[in-house]
Amino acid sequence: MQFNEPAGTNLFDSATVVGKKQTRIDGPLKVSGQAPYAYERHDVTEGKQLVGYPVGSTIAHGRITAMRTEAALAAPGVIDIVSTLDHPDMPKPDMNVAPLFGGDEIWHYHQAIAVVVAETFEQARAAAALIEVDYDVTEGSFDLEAAWAEQQGDYSDPDNRTGDFEGAFAEAEVTLDREYRTAAHSHAMMEPHASIAEWRDGKLNVWTSNQMIAWNKASLATTLEIDEDDVRVDSPYIGGGFGAKLFLRADAVMAALAARKVGQPVKVTLPRPMVMNNTTHRAMTIQRIRIGTTRDGRITAISHEAISNTLPGGTGENATAQTRQFYAGDNRLIVTHLAEMHLPEANAMRAPGEAAGLMGLEIAMDEMAAELGMDPVEFRAINDTQVDPENPDTPFSERHFVEALRTGADAFGWADRNTAPGATRDGDWLIGHGVAGAYRGGPVMASGARLRLQPSGMLIVETDMTDIGTGSYTILAQTAAETMGLPLDSVEVRLGDSDFPVSAGSGGQWGAASSTAGVYAACFALREEIASRMGVNDVETLTFANGGVTTGDKQTTLAELATDGEIVVEDSIAFGDFRDEQVVSTFGAHFVELGVHALTGEIRLRRMLAACDSGRILNPITARSQVIGGMVMGVGAAMMEDAAVDHARGYFPAHDLAGYEVPVHADIPEQEVIFLDTLDAVSSPLKAKGVGELGLCGVAAAIANAVHNATGVRIRDYPVTLDRYL
Ligand code: MOS
Repeated sequence: MQFNEPAGTNLFDSATVVGKKQTRIDGPLKVSGQAPYAYERHDVTEGKQLVGYPVGSTIAHGRITAMRTEAALAAPGVIDIVSTLDHPDMPKPDMNVAPLFGGDEIWHYHQAIAVVVAETFEQARAAAALIEVDYDVTEGSFDLEAAWAEQQGDYSDPDNRTGDFEGAFAEAEVTLDREYRTAAHSHAMMEPHASIAEWRDGKLNVWTSNQMIAWNKASLATTLEIDEDDVRVDSPYIGGGFGAKLFLRADAVMAALAARKVGQPVKVTLPRPMVMNNTTHRAMTIQRIRIGTTRDGRITAISHEAISNTLPGGTGENATAQTRQFYAGDNRLIVTHLAEMHLPEANAMRAPGEAAGLMGLEIAMDEMAAELGMDPVEFRAINDTQVDPENPDTPFSERHFVEALRTGADAFGWADRNTAPGATRDGDWLIGHGVAGAYRGGPVMASGARLRLQPSGMLIVETDMTDIGTGSYTILAQTAAETMGLPLDSVEVRLGDSDFPVSAGSGGQWGAASSTAGVYAACFALREEIASRMGVNDVETLTFANGGVTTGDKQTTLAELATDGEIVVEDSIAFGDFRDEQVVSTFGAHFVELGVHALTGEIRLRRMLAACDSGRILNPITARSQVIGGMVMGVGAAMMEDAAVDHARGYFPAHDLAGYEVPVHADIPEQEVIFLDTLDAVSSPLKAKGVGELGLCGVAAAIANAVHNATGVRIRDYPVTLDRYL
């Protein structure tokens, strides 16, 4: 399906299902334990499932010189062992930074080096402990500060230079030059990576937990050197991903190799400690931000320079991304450095780039406002831009950042706060208020769907889209119901199976806007098919409502049309023909009130508010859940999450949910979310954009800024823990 007209009205402007509050249709299954996660797919295999227990490297960098498996093989219940040494030449999947298995070379700590297959989990785990490995250790590099000291100030290969930054900064009436540091973060999703593999007639079936079905099907084929058509991937329910499940991981590879070797289904989950060091994390960053303004607060010069860790060949955390487009200013310098290290693979985590970058930029904006003696809301507002500052001929499709700031400030009561730092007390608590801007790109991806109209009148939607807890089942059902004039309970959505049409998948906050567009396209294909079956030339004359179709004097129902057998149609859409000419992004503002205990330094959040400019909100309940979930993640980034590096051994020692702290319910105060009533016709046929990552962007800085307002102490290193300001 082609859409070349971004403007104009469509049926969603008078929608009765899309845009309405709808609780998740998979909700009852989830809370009653009937939505099985990958490791719980007990009845999908033909053969009896065996258990594989993974073994990870205990060095960060070097080579395996010997692996002794005799004792493990002789242990009770053990069927077989697959060693990385058995697969010296396994290809690296295209989208991964490093190979997942195979060979003797060690890239990072807890790299998968073997999987022990046994009758039970306990037997496999016990045997795994008996494997002995000899290594030839090579010195690795694990120190971001050292890399920063080396690379900082090298502007020979900037991401962007616009105007004359150095000249404008030197001449600016007010300047700020600061460094900020963000910690490495773990996705810490509830469901660890897990896969069950079974080979049937030379074809591989994998029941797994994954955000991007088509990517993983292709990656499995590459890694195992088999035909892509011989791989089926199924992942209907996912216990969180946050980017950790975008790409193929070692659990699926080990399950597939083990199942092939023993000729029986094998299931492998990564034990929690292996999730942290075997899979990916958000890279740590060091950021230098310089801002020059006029006395009345107009930015004339802005520079963001950042470094992050990566395995060789990776892209780290692009912390400067948002600074290229968020605020005005004629003279700009953007530089990103990469520190190649032998830490585990740094890769995408919710709002990759912006989440970490705004942790620096939005403190810098607060500091600059203070230098200027300006309200930080006003300072941001007067530096708004409606065009890409690097390419002033390129406008934003829709940008309502100032409205988000003002709407949020009004609802929060921002004007009533005490602007003097450290000057508001409530008993033993120092009270502070903080604000930060939110910015996140609004990408879309091609997405397809198949529709099966049943003789019963039920409409089945099939697409390999995933629901990582986001509400995909629900918004796709809403889209189909709206487009075909059906009640919501006449639509059944089936997701996550690679036998279904390829969708956008869940990532980069593109999922909702893209996958609903795919279902919309398929629905229009079905409308065409119905018109043709009714002998109607102009599909536009058809009206779909309450399960019926009318045109002129003809009237029928969707059920009657399918009485002779189901009607099957399929289509896909790659929306975005206008994206070369306009920047599509999402905007918001976060407001925080907190208390800092005057004696202990403990921080307690009191309330949080987000105002979001994200285009059409397809379902206010699921969208709000995405935003408040993002805000919780921002609380973690601000106040506790710290995947600190052991520099001696090169790994993340805080590798479980006891050592790696994330927020719990008791940490989270009242959260309010306001959606601006905006539409973005360039983004999708439903005029929707993403919200799932926007909700996180800026939160941590709003908290750090509120801590400053409460205490007068400016913390530029995350997490903001009490030891940093006591
Ligand atoms: Mo997202 S980090 O692209 O799942």
